[in-house]
Amino acid sequence: MLNLDHLIIGFDKGLRTLLSKAQTVRAYPDEDVAETSLSETEKKHAIGLMRINHSGEICAQALYQGQALTARDPLVQKKLEQAAWEETEHLAWTSRRVQELGGHLSVLNPLWYTGSLALGAFAGLLGDKWNLGFLAETERQVGGHLQEHLQELPAQDAKSRAIVQQMYTDEIGHSDMALEMGGAELPAPVKLTMQLTSKLLTRTAYWV
Ligand SMILES: [Fe+2]
Ligand SMILES: [Fe+2]
Repeated sequence: MLNLDHLIIGFDKGLRTLLSKAQTVRAYPDEDVAETSLSETEKKHAIGLMRINHSGEICAQALYQGQALTARDPLVQKKLEQAAWEETEHLAWTSRRVQELGGHLSVLNPLWYTGSLALGAFAGLLGDKWNLGFLAETERQVGGHLQEHLQELPAQDAKSRAIVQQMYTDEIGHSDMALEMGGAELPAPVKLTMQLTSKLLTRTAYWV
């Protein structure tokens, strides 16, 4: 059950997610990829897309954390924590890339974080079957967005592409993991609501 200790830990992790530099154990996927020159328009577009991906990872942090707070099965909790670590790496990769391109991170990140934390905790309270189902669907939708970004990113921006490609592989892995652990198929209206919510994020984070 959710108690005050959990809330304090959640708040503390939230502040760290928003304010401190994310760490990565794996090498940056674009480590060995050379920087290429981009026009101002291409650069602006790449910044917008990578800023969306960074905000998406802020949400992932909060969702996983919210879910881990309320998940019942210790094995589910452990798996959620493992996946959350990979999301921290995504956070580090996207954050560095946005800055390399000369952009800033979304000013609305605290808002995305708070909303996603509440959503994650709520999903966790519904029980592990729905919690994992929600996770699988989220990761599947994120995978879809990443595929779109691979189409949309400037062709010569190989550094951003390398990052997005590795993230896509990881997100599909997270989705499969959640399904293998017993995630249920969500009702269509829930999936649709999730799609609309993520549209709100992608439309806003591209600009601010
Ligand atoms: Fe991620
Ligand atoms: Fe993921």
